[in-house]
Amino acid sequence: MKKTLSVSAINHGTVIDHIDAGQALKLIPLLKLNHDHYQITIGLNLTSTLMGSKDIIKINDLHLTEKEAAQIAIFAPHATLNIIDDYSVIRKIKARLPQEIRSILICPNKNCITAHETVESLFHVSSFKNKVHLHCNYCEKIFSKHEIEEYST
Ligand code: CTP
Ligand code: ZN
Repeated sequence: MKKTLSVSAINHGTVIDHIDAGQALKLIPLLKLNHDHYQITIGLNLTSTLMGSKDIIKINDLHLTEKEAAQIAIFAPHATLNIIDDYSVIRKIKARLPQEIRSILICPNKNCITAHETVESLFHVSSFKNKVHLHCNYCEKIFSKHEIEEYST
């Protein structure tokens, strides 16, 4: 069977594949990709045999690492990072939840000390029945990933 690509292949960079549909647009600010000048193509709600529908992000000229794979896992636990060189996949990194996440997420609790003083945010990450829980180290409140909409810049 002929395989066609919904989004063109890239020469050098990273393809974040198998992103849960609807999450790609959250990953762009999370990875701070909107601050840089990389060429990025995004596919939303693409048909996937594995997932029904999925999102995909292709970033030219940037090789992501395990560190980013951990951040991505919070919003896209099934994602695979394909590292591309000379049009070939040279490495696959599976998204894996980190144990903790520092400085990137902002605690939604307006009374949290992190909202008033310049302390770096810190969340402890756990998952239960496929749901990610983010436990703020400072105010001790627990949030789901849907409640966290802001990232530090
Ligand atoms: N890809 C790309 N540009 C390339 C090579 C691959 O955009 N030069 C994309 C493919 O379209 C696919 C992803 O990177 O979305 C992974 O490629 P590949 O490992 O060849 O695909 P699969 O075997 O289907 O991957 P998996 O088993 O992870 O689903
Ligand atoms: Zn807090």
